[in-house]
Amino acid sequence: MAESTRKVALIFLVTFAIVIPCLEAGIAVYDDFLKAQAEMAHEIALESFVPNPMNITSELNLHVHLAMEEAANMTRRNLREGHAHNPNEPCEASNPIDRCWRCRADWAENRQRLAKCVKGFGRRAVGGLGGPTYVVTDETDEDLVEPKPGTLRHAVTRNGPLWIIFARSMIIKLKQELLVSSDKTIDGRGANVQIRDGAGITMQFVNNVIVHGLRIKKVKAMEGGMIRDSYNHVGQRTRSDGDGVSIFGSSNIWVDHISMSECDDGLVDVIQGSTAITISNCHMTKHNDVMLFGASDSYTGDKIMQITVAFNHFGQGLIQRMPRCRWGFFHVLNNDYTHWLMYAIGGSSGPTILSQGNRFIAPNNEAAKEITHRDYAPKETWSKWQWTSDNDLFMNGAKFTTSGQPITKLENINKGLIMKPRPGSHANRLTKYAGALGCVVGKPC
Ligand SMILES: *[C@@H]1O[C@H](CO)[C@@H](O)[C@H](O)[C@H]1NC(C)=O
Ligand SMILES: *[C@@H]1O[C@H](CO)[C@@H](O)[C@H](O)[C@H]1NC(C)=O
Repeated sequence: MAESTRKVALIFLVTFAIVIPCLEAGIAVYDDFLKAQAEMAHEIALESFVPNPMNITSELNLHVHLAMEEAANMTRRNLREGHAHNPNEPCEASNPIDRCWRCRADWAENRQRLAKCVKGFGRRAVGGLGGPTYVVTDETDEDLVEPKPGTLRHAVTRNGPLWIIFARSMIIKLKQELLVSSDKTIDGRGANVQIRDGAGITMQFVNNVIVHGLRIKKVKAMEGGMIRDSYNHVGQRTRSDGDGVSIFGSSNIWVDHISMSECDDGLVDVIQGSTAITISNCHMTKHNDVMLFGASDSYTGDKIMQITVAFNHFGQGLIQRMPRCRWGFFHVLNNDYTHWLMYAIGGSSGPTILSQGNRFIAPNNEAAKEITHRDYAPKETWSKWQWTSDNDLFMNGAKFTTSGQPITKLENINKGLIMKPRPGSHANRLTKYAGALGCVVGKPC
């Protein structure tokens, strides 16, 4: 886009931003509190949108180069100095997010350091940074209106920034959606925390949340009812779909090191004008509709959507939507796609997709070698959508159908600014520790 076109596009977004319809929002009574909340979240989303997304993609690529070089330097140094592989220092973190914290034996003493590690479009998500620590000691979820102190639901509905950790390993079966309020970190490190066999995690009209180190599986659709969504508000909710993580009208969100499988609806859904989001280091398995970014072909408010999907492992038993995109700008970087049954990356309504340095291993089925999938548009329309593949690795016959003008070759882009990605041959290494980690206090993770 030329600079002038971009400005016009932005003005268009600001002026015609569509009011959130409450129908699909899970909200039964759209009261003044929620209206104000939605409006504020929308303003923050507009501020979080970057007119020049290539700055962010290039910056992340630069960080990957630096992290891998640093890791290689360290290995060389260890070899030269004759250190054998030390089992107490297992840290092989090679991606820039992990290298920022995982190699430190003192990670548990300074958990909030994690907030400085996020990269990509979600780079401003600091979660509960600066707030007190809240220790979850109780896995029950009985009272949805006045949650019991010590429960996860009590923690996520407190006022102000909070860094939420877990006293021990636990299985949390949520009775209804967990509505997370702004400025929270849910940090599962050091425990095996499973959110399963109940409802999932929802972020609606909020800003600045980190969700890290959880195992989320078998999330079920639930009937709804009266649920507390924040310190000051309880509202009547309609049925929830059964998404593992649902991000709705929210911005500055970081989802990192989550293992997810077998939910009733999507594993991660990002909809209704959400933006400034990073989904990294996740391990996803056994699921049909993996990630949906934008739910409607008529909701142009999703043009502000900017999402980074990096260092994830899309593994066993996945069928489609890794991700499925509408309207916005999506950076799909250094992920490892080892299984899909139908397709990997899809979309409609002209999304911009920059696929860089991924490894795509196609299934044996001759009819499913194609990575991409486009819906609801004839070729003369979708051939203008910008879907670029750059330094991806294609195996077992995998094919990526590109379209539109290559994103990396736009004329008005400052060439000095463009950073090439690390190639797809490194994706396996960069995603080796995807999913929830088994961190032990006092040791590198
Ligand atoms: C790796 O080592 C080389 C050669 O010693 C040095 O020039 C470079 O700056 C190092 N890179 C990093 C990221 O530490
Ligand atoms: C983003 O890119 C533009 C155009 O290349 C450049 O002028 C600007 O300084 C960049 N901003 C940042 C924060 O890097």
